[in-house]
Amino acid sequence: MAKTVDRMDQIVSLCKRRGFVFQSSEIYGGLGSCWDYGPYGVELKRNLKDFWWKAMTQKRDDVEGLDAAILMHPKVWETSGHVANFTDPMVDCKKCKARFRADQLETARCPEKPSKSPLECGGELTEPRMFNLMFKTFMGPVEDSSAVVYMRPETAQGIYVNFLNVMGPSRQKVPFGIAQIGKAFRNEITPGNFIFRTREFEQMEMQFFIKPSEDDQWFDYWKAERMQFYYDLGINKDKLRYHEHGKDELAHYAKKAFDIEYEFPFGWKELEGIHNRTDFDLSRHTEATGKDLSYFDEKTHEKFIPYIIETSAGCDRTLLVLLVDAYTEEEVKGETRVVLKFSPKIAPVKVAVFPLVNKDGMPELGMKVFHELKEHFKAFYDTSGAVGRRYRRMDEIGTPYCVTIDGQTSQDETVTIRDRDTMEQTRVKIADLVPTIKAKIEG
Ligand code: GAP
Repeated sequence: MAKTVDRMDQIVSLCKRRGFVFQSSEIYGGLGSCWDYGPYGVELKRNLKDFWWKAMTQKRDDVEGLDAAILMHPKVWETSGHVANFTDPMVDCKKCKARFRADQLETARCPEKPSKSPLECGGELTEPRMFNLMFKTFMGPVEDSSAVVYMRPETAQGIYVNFLNVMGPSRQKVPFGIAQIGKAFRNEITPGNFIFRTREFEQMEMQFFIKPSEDDQWFDYWKAERMQFYYDLGINKDKLRYHEHGKDELAHYAKKAFDIEYEFPFGWKELEGIHNRTDFDLSRHTEATGKDLSYFDEKTHEKFIPYIIETSAGCDRTLLVLLVDAYTEEEVKGETRVVLKFSPKIAPVKVAVFPLVNKDGMPELGMKVFHELKEHFKAFYDTSGAVGRRYRRMDEIGTPYCVTIDGQTSQDETVTIRDRDTMEQTRVKIADLVPTIKAKIEG
């Protein structure tokens, strides 16, 4: 395995070269910790989000979807505790002027060369100051304090304030959940590690409303479900683990929290948080608005403010896990083959079509096959270069199947399917291509 730094460099470079992820505003020198998703990145992200949405809503009858606005009433963030508590301690180095999180000095690196921990570089650090991570902007034409609104730092609050709006029309009864995918913004002091910690990112969150006495049981249920999700995505099980938050780590709203962690090239880090948020959020919103967010159980005649078990995953961070986990280098005939071994279910392009040569009717047949496949899968047609090079390009974007039209195709209406991982080729009838590829993807 390449050294930590090399492996991340290789992934960042592949992402740029093959059109997965680019730095935001690159031609202006880039904007710190904001990233743009290119053609294959956006397909991968869409597949990931669809996979999550399907697992969390479509396959269940107790979770509804929501898409709430990014900008919310500013009082929401006072009530939720974010205005007072969503802060990180920050210090400045008086020598190099860099800014660090005071609680992460050991692992931080200063911008001087050679780069050192700010504890070792000898520069004097300022006293820690609390820094609120929410981005502020103004709503309307007047830029004064009465017009301040926040860019949401989590999608969760949009769900809490819509608890009644969703429960009524969907005729759900507690226990039930609300799922949402959307952008969140945090003015992180030390973003970094590519798309691991950014200032603009997407979350995939689900809030499950339950009877307070059932919180441990539902917490354990969601903890197991969410780990299974990553197994189903094809992530290496040995690189996933739980981490329970100690008392000093718990967020201001949480009674209990477990992270699902992944072993990134830069160490074990949080991928998703599962939190028991108790009745903190609904109670606070009830107090602040006077709107009763309690629930009446018609069977037991109990009235209570539901507890919430939250599952909160980062979309961009999961995408990084997919890239890191899939990245493989293999020696093939004295050359290094780079392959992204994504699960076919989420691969950005499912199938590529290559006419072996640009003559003898092969391009025409290839185009016909391509148009047929496009109706069912994200497909790619490529005629340029030797077929071996075309395979390598597809390996680098993780395309699981390549279909080649050769001399035999016009005689017996068959093509070959080359498997990305085994590199084995099998011959199938064109008429059987779609069901064969579908079965492979689903299998
Ligand atoms: N609503 C709860 C909440 O937001 P969190 O642990 O702060 O909890 C949940 O965030 C997930 O969102 C994290 O596990 C991570 O995957 C993702 N996330 C948080 N901050 C991020 C950042 N700055 N960049 C990318 N992803 C981030």
